[in-house]
This record gives sequence, structure tokens and C-alpha cells, in this order.
Amino acid sequence: MNILGIESSCDESAAAVVQDGVRVLSSVIASQVDLHAEYGGVVPEIASRAHVSQLTPTISKALCDAGLELGQIDAVAVGHRPGLIGSLLVGVSAAKALAWAMGVPIVGVDHIHAHLYAGLLDQSEAVEMPALGLVVSGGHTAIYKLTSVTDCQLLGATIDDAIGEAYDKAATILGLAYPGGPRLDALASQPDADETVCKLPISRLGKDSLDFSYSGLKTALLYEVRGIPAPGGVFQRDHDALSELHKRDLAACFQNAAVSAVMLKLGHALKQYGECHTLLVGGGVSANSRLRAELVTLASERGLELRLPAMEYCMDNAAMIAGLAWHLHKAGVEDDLTLRAVPTTGCGRS
Ligand code: KG4
Ligand code: ZN
Repeated sequence: MNILGIESSCDESAAAVVQDGVRVLSSVIASQVDLHAEYGGVVPEIASRAHVSQLTPTISKALCDAGLELGQIDAVAVGHRPGLIGSLLVGVSAAKALAWAMGVPIVGVDHIHAHLYAGLLDQSEAVEMPALGLVVSGGHTAIYKLTSVTDCQLLGATIDDAIGEAYDKAATILGLAYPGGPRLDALASQPDADETVCKLPISRLGKDSLDFSYSGLKTALLYEVRGIPAPGGVFQRDHDALSELHKRDLAACFQNAAVSAVMLKLGHALKQYGECHTLLVGGGVSANSRLRAELVTLASERGLELRLPAMEYCMDNAAMIAGLAWHLHKAGVEDDLTLRAVPTTGCGRS
């Protein structure tokens, strides 16, 4: 079964064709990074307008790369939640139009749930359940328990900033260019970066809590870089005052604290859900070098089956949407033309 996936929840217009949930025949991503760079973040109105112009050629390219005609598509899947509402509406409208015109089913997919699936793409071996799932993205940071690929339960989530958002804000505090997460990772990963120059907080939120908090870490870095502000909010110095070496060391301190918080919570989750021997990880921050290395070590120490996405499936993409849709379709999930774009996730919350 060939499923065409469409993804437009934020600032990537993406389309992909995936066969039987696993074999990625094509995956095309039209990034909008250049359009948003001058604003230092995603501007929703610019994003939705760019989707309008980028999505149709992106879908055409995905079909062409897969070597298929539209008539060979058996279903259309679309990321319909969560995300920027204007951006979601463009993808959902395109998916509805295609499904209606071709007379094939439409399947709405939760983007966060799809991130959990990304590590199963292009993998022929079935995954052992139950599993723990970790989503670390620009908008979400959460841990789930999955009893099957389609059924998950939320165990804990961030109570304020998401880890990717914290990375991007930390990068801005250090004066790095947008998009900041990968740049901060690269800086922190330089061989002689010293992560002991300062101690940034790792939030615990109570013994054994599976929730996350990243706003304190971000503020601690801000004060480290610019000093404690005087009454009235005036900072003692600008980030320009940092030497390149000090900047690199502070990036390493931030990376150490941000990743340690994830590993701490995963440790709690593994203790509480000892029946889970599989770990599914997804979201943009799963591309982070330090996090990937620590997850590999954890998996080998604990005998866990780790499903980390290939780098091309860490960030937003449509292959994860089409892949998960196949399982949803098999499980009897089928939407119709009343499918709605929804700004919030429903992953694990039913
Ligand atoms: O999953 P994603 O593509 O979009 C959302 O669904 O939010 O994640 C994007 C986030 C951004 O915050 C970006 O800075 C972060 O993932 N990111 C990274 C790295 N690569 C992407 N953060 C840290 N280290 C990286 N290597
Ligand atoms: Zn995402």
C-alpha cells in the first residue's frame, strides 16, 4: 500500500511516499529557514503563505522521486495536529483535495505521535512492545508508554518550555544565528569545550517526576552571560562581551544540563516501567550529538532496543506521517473530509 504523506505543521513543507508503513520511496522537505531567519524565529503568517506556494511542487517531487503516478497512491495521510493553525490548514486542505479527487481514504496523523514512529522507518525488523517513547522537539518534550505502535499513554511532559525551544533561546542568548539548536550543539561539541566552567540547573520537579522544565535553565544561562539584571531589568553586559572560548564553554554547560535532564527523566521512567525494553525517540532534538551518544550508551548498558531516527527523519518530515498512517489505517482509523486542523496534540491523552 502506497501512502502519500503531507506535513505542514510549522515551517517545513514536506511530502513523502511510504510503502506498507516502512519502505520510504521518497521524502521531500522544502525548508523555510531562509524566510524566517531575519526574524530569529518562525513567523506564522509567513509560514502559512509559504506552504501555499511550496506544497504542490513538493508533492509533485515526492511522487516523481518515488517513480509513481497519483493514481498509484492508495491513501493520503496528513499531519493535522498540533502546529500553527494557518500552516496546518494548508496541508489538511491539500490532503482533502487529493483524497477527494482520487477517491482514496484520508488519514489524519498526530505530528507528535509520528515523531515517535520516525525511528521505525526503513527498518524491516518489528519492534518489541511495550515501549517507552521520548519526544524532544521544538514545541514538545514528553515521555510516553506505548503498548503498540498506535496506542500510547502520556507519562510526563514539559510544564513550560520545550527542550528545542530552550536550545533556540539559549543560542540567541549566546549570540548564535538562527536556527540555533544545531549551532549550539556544534559549538558545545568542540573537543576542548569545558562543561565545568559553570553549573547550570537540572530541574527535577520532585522525586521520580516524569515532567520536564526548561525555563529555569534558560534564565540561568541568560544571567551567566549577561549578569543579574539591575532593578528595572537592565543587564550588566551584552553577549558581545563573551570571548569565543567562553561562549563555547557555556554552550557545553548548557548542553550538559539540557541532555542530563532528559537522561534523568528517562532513568525514572525505566525504573517505573521496567516492563519496557524498547525505547523510541523522535523530534528535532533527537539529532543532537550528545543526546544520541548518551542514548546509545544507556541502551547498551540496560540492554534496551533503541530506535533512534536516521538524521533525515529527526526533523519535521512527511515520511513519519505516511509511515504511522499505514498502521492507523490497518487498525481501522479512517477520517473523512470533515477532518480538522487542530493546534494542540492529542498524543497519549485520550
Ligand atoms: O521536531 P522539529 O523539527 O520541529 C518541531 O516539531 O518542533 O524540531 C525542531 C527543533 C528546533 O528547536 C531545533 O533547534 C532543534 O529541534 N534541533 C536541535 C538540533 N537539531 C535540531 N537541538 C539541539 N541539537 C541539535 N543538533
Ligand atoms: Zn516536529
